[in-house]
Amino acid sequence: MTGSQGNAVLEVSDLTVRYGAAVALRGIDLVIGEQEAVAVLGPNGAGKTTLLRTISGLLKPAAGQIELDSHSMVGRPAYRIARAGFVHAPEGRSMIAPLTVTENLQLGAGRRARSDVAAGIDEMIELFPSLRARMGTKAGLLSGGEQQMVAIARALMAQPKVLAIDEPSMGLAPVVVDAVLEALRKVIDSGTSLLLAEQNARLALAVADRAYVLVHGEVVKSGNSDEFGDELIESYLT
Ligand SMILES: Nc1ncnc2c1ncn2[C@@H]1O[C@H](COP(=O)(O)OP(=O)(O)O)[C@@H](O)[C@H]1O
Ligand SMILES: [Mg+2]
Repeated sequence: MTGSQGNAVLEVSDLTVRYGAAVALRGIDLVIGEQEAVAVLGPNGAGKTTLLRTISGLLKPAAGQIELDSHSMVGRPAYRIARAGFVHAPEGRSMIAPLTVTENLQLGAGRRARSDVAAGIDEMIELFPSLRARMGTKAGLLSGGEQQMVAIARALMAQPKVLAIDEPSMGLAPVVVDAVLEALRKVIDSGTSLLLAEQNARLALAVADRAYVLVHGEVVKSGNSDEFGDELIESYLT
């Protein structure tokens, strides 16, 4: 269907989303394969967050199809879409500030059994070793980079098939962005597909296999990450 490898885990077809009379997404087609990392790039206001929120079931599309493992997700409530395997770490991280890191992770676990939740938390510490010393700390006291790690870990606690992350690099220093990138690579290696919404194209292309460029709610370019040279990045994304 596109350049994706293997079967599609997520397939979005001809998706249109409106806010009242304003069209935010127009006829979007997007596919994510098993263990594939896909970036959605585009300037502020392009529609990236709207796309993630619509797939998550938080917004209702005006038209189009969304299939996860060949099952239609349109019209399902958000908690059922998460349970089916599409889990979204929202823009701004949305930690529960007065709760500890451990408690935030427990909240991400959904319906997993208690013993399984403990095992899941151990896995997250393995994935993000820098969180080990922070597990008892209130999330609101963490640095931006640490909060982003917790946001990713919390989403992974639900054992998603597709992890969607909205602007993970926002507000982070370059060295911290590198640590987040490293963590995202480990997520992919562990077998989870990734949908990464980013204004920071260079960062996203460093982790994604393929990318789609959104401008004013339309896909203006898609392809393998290595097809996106500097010139293209400059012309669409700066
Ligand atoms: N709740 C909303 N109500 C009305 N318009 C919105 C709302 N959220 C976003 N928009 C508009 O939809 C477009 C896409 O926004 P968004 O999905 O947030 O883009 P991005 O995440 O790429 O910055 C923008 O024009 C934005 O102003
Ligand atoms: Mg956004």
